Amino acid sequence: MSVQSTIRRKTAPDIRARKNGEPIVMLTSYHAHTAALVDRHCDVILVGDSLGNVMHGFETTVPVTLDMMILQGHAVMRGSQHALVVVDMPFGCYEASREQAFHSAVRILKETHCGAVKLEGGERMAETVAFLAGRGIPVMGHIGLTPQSINTLGSFRAQGREEGSWEPIENDARAISQAGAFSVVIEAVAEPLARKITETIAIPTIGIGASAACDGQVLVLEDMLGLSARTPKFVHRYGNLGPMIEAAIEGYAADVRSRAFPAPEHVYGMKAKG
Ligand code: KIV
Repeated sequence: MSVQSTIRRKTAPDIRARKNGEPIVMLTSYHAHTAALVDRHCDVILVGDSLGNVMHGFETTVPVTLDMMILQGHAVMRGSQHALVVVDMPFGCYEASREQAFHSAVRILKETHCGAVKLEGGERMAETVAFLAGRGIPVMGHIGLTPQSINTLGSFRAQGREEGSWEPIENDARAISQAGAFSVVIEAVAEPLARKITETIAIPTIGIGASAACDGQVLVLEDMLGLSARTPKFVHRYGNLGPMIEAAIEGYAADVRSRAFPAPEHVYGMKAKG
């Protein structure tokens, strides 16, 4: 008897086919419990290397390791059923050569069972994207602001603010699309440039701080829920869970201190002796 699941997850080709169609909804998740919530409403769950900032309190994503991504990627796969899960390739595990990228991506796919990987970089990564895509590894690109390059960029500034600086970003988008990526994240670029790229390239663009002109949107879940210590200016907050969580913790601490903590009799339905 077959034990295969009857639930069909979205695939990279499903997302690729959404070009100029219904907008793609994507959020990050790093855990099984948030993945289960995100899965009900999103087409794609990104296990972003932003987990370095959000979960671990690092200043940048540079210290994030492949093992960290695999651990959280596996958790997100266990928590979700429908969305395509994309796992970020962290800094240092793919830039040295296309072979290095292949071995890292294979580990991610085999050890998490996710459906695709994401890597940062445009023209300079095109050969690697083609190498992976040609060997059965769906790749999502990431251009514009690429946070893993913070040490050469110097700051997390928006890209392509003046028309004179658009060309390299347009070239990056074209190169990643032509290399066979199934979609590309465009981070922190001005609206006219995001629109131009979206209208020009063959694959869906997924914006973060890049306007509604893209084929889809992604946000870091904790940013849009008001749970991050620092939130980029472009993020719209859909909730403010920080104070709610703190109020619950405060209530618990007060109950414990005043011995008003729910009694076991109440919880387990034990009758008092009498
Ligand atoms: O790591 C991440 O969460 C990302 C998104 C910001 C796109 O790459």
